[in-house]
Amino acid sequence: VRVVVLASGTGSLLQSLIAAAVGDYPARIVAVGVDRDCAAVAHAESADIPAFRVALREYPDRDAWDRALTAAVDAHQPDLIVSAGFMKILGPEFMGRFGGRIINTHPALLPSFPGAHAVPDALAYGVKVTGSTVHLVDSGVDTGPVLAQEPVVVLEDDDESSLHERIKTVERRLLVDVIAAVATRGVVSDGRKAVIPSDRT
Ligand code: GRF
Repeated sequence: VRVVVLASGTGSLLQSLIAAAVGDYPARIVAVGVDRDCAAVAHAESADIPAFRVALREYPDRDAWDRALTAAVDAHQPDLIVSAGFMKILGPEFMGRFGGRIINTHPALLPSFPGAHAVPDALAYGVKVTGSTVHLVDSGVDTGPVLAQEPVVVLEDDDESSLHERIKTVERRLLVDVIAAVATRGVVSDGRKAVIPSDRT
């Protein structure tokens, strides 16, 4: 199964995927796409994985960026797209082309704390438990059907970075496991629910 990973940040999730996608792991990362210069490019290159950058600011408008990103990803003929800290909302062209095969990871237990500041929002709210969500991307922001979740306890002395790091530790494992499951058994999603069949009878 051919996977294109989209990243924007430190790329630690990408690094976990690169480390896992070897041997008989049922998926291979065929390319990495970024929307800005970021560490993810270096991780891709050091693993001999082609990386491409489609930066919003280099396009006249969002539609042009959406089309360019769709074409850049399509060129790699992916079966699955994984958004691993890609901090842009995917556009209608992209969703039209790849919808239903885009997986995102979010550092909170959706539907709690959607958006780009999930970890500080959870801390500010004072929750005792937050966590990681892996979900299918739909046209909303962090609203797609949930594939997997795992709780992470918030500690008394947590700050954003300590909590986010603990969540990322869970995310890295959860994302690797979900991609392997989807790659081997697919996803059945109808509306709100998405199910990875437990096995193919
Ligand atoms: C992850 O926590 C992901 O859920 C969020 O951004 C973070 C990316 O981390 N969207 P990294 O750039 O892979 O280290």
